[in-house]
Amino acid sequence: MNHYVVTGGAGFIGSQIVRSLLAAGAGKVVVIDNLSTGHRANLEEVRPQIDFQRADIRYYEEIAPIIRGAAVVFHEAAIPSVPRSIDDPVPSHEVNIDGTFNVLRAAREGGVGRVVYAASSSAYGDTEVLPKLETMTPNPKSPYALQKLVGEYYCGVFASVWGLETVSLRYFNVYGPRQDPSSPYSGVLSIFMRCAIERRAPTIFGDGETSRDFTFVEDVADLNLKAAKAKDVSGKVYNGGNGGRITLNEAWRLVQELEGVSIAPNYGPPRAGDVRDSQADTTAAVRDLGHAPRYSFEQGMRDTLDWYRQYGG
Ligand SMILES: NC(=O)c1ccc[n+]([C@@H]2O[C@H](COP(=O)([O-])OP(=O)(O)OC[C@H]3O[C@@H](n4cnc5c(N)ncnc54)[C@H](O)[C@@H]3O)[C@@H](O)[C@H]2O)c1
Repeated sequence: MNHYVVTGGAGFIGSQIVRSLLAAGAGKVVVIDNLSTGHRANLEEVRPQIDFQRADIRYYEEIAPIIRGAAVVFHEAAIPSVPRSIDDPVPSHEVNIDGTFNVLRAAREGGVGRVVYAASSSAYGDTEVLPKLETMTPNPKSPYALQKLVGEYYCGVFASVWGLETVSLRYFNVYGPRQDPSSPYSGVLSIFMRCAIERRAPTIFGDGETSRDFTFVEDVADLNLKAAKAKDVSGKVYNGGNGGRITLNEAWRLVQELEGVSIAPNYGPPRAGDVRDSQADTTAAVRDLGHAPRYSFEQGMRDTLDWYRQYGG
């Protein structure tokens, strides 16, 4: 039977891909995760319908038998943080580059139909022009950005040299329910929401005018499912953003408004490796993959805040 594998499937985005696959009628969904930043709780309501394999993508022998024969592998497993890749670069390198190579190698040798890869908009670095287009020369500013870019290049090479079908989706700051707010490396909106609920001031690094194309997690999962099926896209790279641009000051204002609080943020020095502005040109993803994000920033934030109020993150 055709089956789907989601590496990093206990994580924030991976677990949403699992739920979206099941909602779309997938017969068998296998999760590979070492639970380093992911949580079993993210898969709680779908536990009976999935095959959870605690395995580490750094070890080819562990993952190759699980990946063998899959129709599609959604490769989400990574150490997904710019500052963490600067503070502690070795594990990031091993998971994000060596681990990705192992997944691609296992997919090729195991006759997998397609690999959809979680690439990152951080690969662009600071561009002179916005929005960012896939044809721009990448300019990674951090080990993480470089590692995710190497993964993309590997996807392209596995497609051109060995004929493995691959599609890379450059995500742009994904947010939504289940994003773990508990670490200093967590996504900024998850930290904002926890701060607002706990009536604490967040620390904004820089002047708060840094902007991001925040994308709701369900829209990203839908795009993954579309990329798994699209025709004539192998080896290609697509922006998976929303097309908008929100500053951190604006985002904190909205969080305060939704939560009914008024708390001045603290401002800290800008962080090394952080890109100043980010905004996706989604023309190619719309045209080739049928990308159609459904969530406005305000709607996505409302749903996310509701979730943090209920579950605390
Ligand atoms: N969240 C974003 O804004 C964003 C933006 C661009 C790209 N991405 C990419 O999307 C993917 C998912 O990110 P996320 O935000 O859901 O993060 P996450 O930390 O919630 O998910 C990553 C998952 O990978 C697992 N993992 C880590 N190392 C592993 C290993 N060696 N073996 C097996 N599993 C391992 C973790 O336990 C976790 O469940 C990552 O590849 C990330 O680089 C995310």
